[in-house]
Amino acid sequence: MSLEKHKKSWEELANMDPYWAIVTEKNRQYGKWKVEEFFQTGEYQIQTVMKSLSDLGYPKKRQLMLDFGCGVGRHTRIFCRYFSQAIGIDISERMIDQALKLNQSVSNCKFLVNSEPHLKILPDNHFDLVYSDFVLQHISNKKTIRSYISEFIRIIKPNGLAIFQLPHHISFRNRLQPRRKIYNLLRSLGVNEQFLYGKLGLHPICSNFIPQPQIEELLEIEEARVLKLLAGPDCGPSVDSRIYFVTK
Ligand SMILES: C[S@@+](CC[C@H](N)C(=O)[O-])C[C@H]1O[C@@H](n2cnc3c(N)ncnc32)[C@H](O)[C@@H]1O
Repeated sequence: MSLEKHKKSWEELANMDPYWAIVTEKNRQYGKWKVEEFFQTGEYQIQTVMKSLSDLGYPKKRQLMLDFGCGVGRHTRIFCRYFSQAIGIDISERMIDQALKLNQSVSNCKFLVNSEPHLKILPDNHFDLVYSDFVLQHISNKKTIRSYISEFIRIIKPNGLAIFQLPHHISFRNRLQPRRKIYNLLRSLGVNEQFLYGKLGLHPICSNFIPQPQIEELLEIEEARVLKLLAGPDCGPSVDSRIYFVTK
């Protein structure tokens, strides 16, 4: 799938059911997330991340952080407490519109749209922390996933930290993703997305993976160092995920 079509899918999800598209709990589908509970999930997660940062002693400073694939800013808003400034970046204009509205009261965060398969709008050696959770796994093109990982390394400062989550393996059965394929096929034939999602229970969310050894090889090429590697989080049945903590 082209990045343009991928963006279109996320615009549709941001319009139809943004919170569920971000935290896909079954009983919260079709608008059943309460905004406070949804944001609470980010709170728990970032507290755990901050504990890891303290244990690792990285990044060395806490000035500027980037939340790649920020959605409505569920994590970005929490990082603002720990960093002088947090920037959320996302491919979807509608997600960013909602992030701006929902986080008006947080003064030290900023939100940007980037629809490119790279992060050339961001300078080299710029961020103390780059964080990305539940984003790379949804990109269908593995070359684009690799490109973003290389970009994470380029834009972190020396002694900065990139934390990114990506599945290492998905079982063959779960790679089939018939709901997504039928959704995309019917969308290409012009069938209305609200009908496909609301009435037929189809959606365009893709799940992808890259085996850990291939990510380690890429990081070696980029002269990056893995400080910590975690198994998890739970990304559904038969998905074996990893969280990489990387410096340069
Ligand atoms: C499952 S949501 C996760 C949002 C956020 N990381 C969180 O956990 O709250 C995935 C987000 O990644 C964004 N996204 C998908 N592909 C992207 C890309 N190529 N560049 C930037 N953002 C992307 C989507 O628009 C969506 O907001």
